[in-house]
Parts: sequence; C-alpha cells; structure tokens
Amino acid sequence: MNSEQIRETYLSFFERHEHLREPSASLIPAPNDTSTLLTVAGMQPFQPYFRGEETPPRSRLCSCQRCFRTPDIEEVGNTARHLTNFEMLGNFSFGDYFKEEAIAWAWELSREGFGFDPERIWITVFEGDDELGLGPDEEAIEIWRGLGVPAERIIGLPRKENFWQAGNSGPCGPCSELYIDRGPDWGPDTDRPGDDSDRFLEYWNLVFTAYELGTDGSLTDLPAKNIDTGLGLERMAVIQQGVESVFDTDLLRPLVDLATELSGRNYGADDHAATRAMRIIADHTRGAVQLLGDGVVPSNERRGYVLRRIMRRAIHQGRVLGLEPPYLGRFAERAIEMLAGFNPVVAAERETVLRWIGIEEESFGRTLDRGSQMLERLIAEAKDSETSWIDAEAAFELHDTYGFPYDLTRELLAEEGLSVDDAGFEELMDQQRERARSGAGGEAEGDHERVLEFVGSTPETRFVGYEDLRSGTSVGRPGFIGAP
Ligand code: ALA
Repeated sequence: MNSEQIRETYLSFFERHEHLREPSASLIPAPNDTSTLLTVAGMQPFQPYFRGEETPPRSRLCSCQRCFRTPDIEEVGNTARHLTNFEMLGNFSFGDYFKEEAIAWAWELSREGFGFDPERIWITVFEGDDELGLGPDEEAIEIWRGLGVPAERIIGLPRKENFWQAGNSGPCGPCSELYIDRGPDWGPDTDRPGDDSDRFLEYWNLVFTAYELGTDGSLTDLPAKNIDTGLGLERMAVIQQGVESVFDTDLLRPLVDLATELSGRNYGADDHAATRAMRIIADHTRGAVQLLGDGVVPSNERRGYVLRRIMRRAIHQGRVLGLEPPYLGRFAERAIEMLAGFNPVVAAERETVLRWIGIEEESFGRTLDRGSQMLERLIAEAKDSETSWIDAEAAFELHDTYGFPYDLTRELLAEEGLSVDDAGFEELMDQQRERARSGAGGEAEGDHERVLEFVGSTPETRFVGYEDLRSGTSVGRPGFIGAP
C-alpha cells in the first residue's frame, strides 16, 4: 500500500462506521490552546469537544492530522524511526462509543484492512498508577481477551508509556497500544513491546479519554467518556511497504534520493555520516515546508525558533554531504511536490515558503562557514591536548561573535565526543545581558533626544520592506543629503 491507500483504507473504514471525516488542522494550535507550541496529536484540534465546551459536528469524527513533536529533534537521523513531523490517523468519539467498539474496530481494521496476521499483533494496556489513583485497566484486558488475544500477548505498562496527555495538561486517559512483531530478524524472542527495540513496532494507540489533567497534576472526570486514537502513517507505511525505516517509505524516500543524486554519496549502512545527513535533511525539510506553509516564520523564539533550528540543521547537513550551496530550496521544492495532494496549503504558499528557505540559507550559510572553521580549530586543539572539554568562553565567542547557535555547537562537539560547560556558558550569557541592561540605562534619555533631533533634520524615510528585501540608499546625517 502506498501512503494514500493507507489513509484511504483507514478513513473510509471509519466513515463506514458513521464517522465524519475532518481535514487536518494547522500545525499552529488554536490561539486559546497553550498546552503545546505545535500540534502534537490528532486529538489536539478537538480538545473543546472532549471538554464539552463545544459541540462537534458529529459525535464520531476521523482525521489524518499533521503533527510536529520537538523532543526528538536530536534523535532524527540516528534511528530508523524518529521523526519531528508525521501524520496521525485517528478516530474519535465524543461521549458516543467507548472501549468496546474502539478496541474491536482496531482489531478488525488491523487484520482485514491492513492484512496483519493476528498472531503477530501484541497489545499493551495501562497497569495503573498510584499517583493518579487509577488501577490496572482490567476492562481493556477483558475486551482484548474476548476477541481471542491470548494473555501472554497482552502486556501491562506504566504511566510513562500508557497514559496519554498532550503537553502537561488537558484531556487525557489510559491507553492500549497495538504493536506488530516484525519477527526474529529484528530482535530476540525475549524482546517485548515497550522495550524500545526494533522487533516490536507500535503502530496504533487507543486512548480512553475520560479525564482532564490540571496543571497542578490533579485528575478530574470529563463530562463524558471519549475515545482518541492515533495510528502513525509513516510507521504503517514502513510495515506495508516492507522497508527498513520511515525514510524508505514513499513519504520521505524521494527526498533521500534527491540527496544521493546531488551529493553522489551512498545512502545505506556503509556511510553512516551520509545516511544520517540525508535522513535529517529529509525530515527537517518536510517539517520546515509545512511549518512555513502554516504561517510560522523563522525567529529566535517559540515556534519560529523550532523552525529556524530545523532549517539550520538541514543546511548544516548539506555541508556534511558536500553539497554545493544553495541547496535547501531544491529539497523544499521536492517536499512541496510530494505534499501538495495531502496538504494543499504548502502548494498555495509555495512562493512564500521558498522565499523564507532562501533567506535563511543565505544568512545562516555565511555564519556556518565562518563558525565551522573556528569550531574545527577548537576540536583539533581539544584532541591535541587530550581533553574532552571545550571552554565556555570559546562556545560563547562562537555564539557572540560568529552568531553560531549554541545548540549546534553542543551537538557538533558531542559528535566528536566533546562537551561544553553549560553552566559556564549560561553565566556568560547572563553577564552579557547585564552589560546590555546597564549600558542602556545610563544614556538612554540623552540618546533619545539625539535620535529625535536626527530624525527631525533628515529627509523623510520611506519604508520599502513590504515590497523589497534589498534596496540601495544613502546614509543621511543632519543637514546633509548625500548622493545615492
Ligand atoms: N493522542 C494519542 C497519541 O498521540 C492517540 O498517541
């Protein structure tokens, strides 16, 4: 099955069970949803329905939601399955059906729609948690057993694994997950779901959303019992397409292929640095294009920083592959082509997306080239003196003088087995902030007068930044109009 067939198989199955198909919402959560910076799950746009604050168009919905999760940014490329952005297929019930139907439909669709051998499906359930005051989910176990799943293939897991919440508050509940056993080629028979091994791949999470988690950690009942489920499209594509990693599915492989074409390097086990670089470029370009399409712009804070960070990491990995800059636009163009059918916003915003990609690549490219030279020198010096440590002053200089992002410095050093004194770096940052504050204090008033005087005596300034990104002009000084 290609990814479109997976989406269709899932969504049409739930439509046949009277669910209304909803389009994906933006990666930017609703303005009053402060639980996360970016949409992390299919349930997120529906939070007001779970809380009973708004009435859904139907009590059963299904969707394929674009998601973005930041905690794994640095894991991307190191494994076969970590991604920052992915699509989540889900079916939702708002006070309508509950565990019985959600479990039975997941079982039916796994076997009949996706063709899984029932003997290879393993189940996990919530084993209870004292702090939450909840016991093991006996009800879910009984339903699975009733469908013929033997007790030895039902595993209890703790809160960390099997209790779902978006961010640190909001509608939440115990889960039951479905895993596929990929067989002994992927790990020994002693492996189990939840081990984080490659043998058991989690593909579907069923959440019994019956509670609201307060920011103080308290649990209260929601007005009704609901269902929220999430099936990872990329993971299902791995299984259906019989490939090793999410990067080999039709959802990402064309980007990896472009990287091999442009670099002439091999994608595969024998060239780890190139393989990792290609994976990072594929994931991050796809994510950047979608964030830009949804209206996020690169900046130094919040969502804008997440976007900037992934763009910069992708640009850096292009250097690792030895690509001739500029190249990020080539990847972005391909990502837009690949996404256009499912996410028409990126196609509609193509020009804007490519413009931002170009601007960031140009400005960061310069920083990268200058900073990399200094970093290489530092790494060589550390190796010569057989230390595993880089001075906070040196990392600070890279940041302050060269504009080289500290998180990239840390990552690149870590790849060489080196670390930096984080606390020392923070202290230098504090000192710099203090200098900036005290510098501004003393002369602020006089400066302001002088600025006003200057502005009053120079010709009128026209702001052209809405139409152009560059403009030729002359520098004025009071009483003097220079030739352009
Ligand atoms: N909201 C659940 C998850 O993201 C389904 O795993």
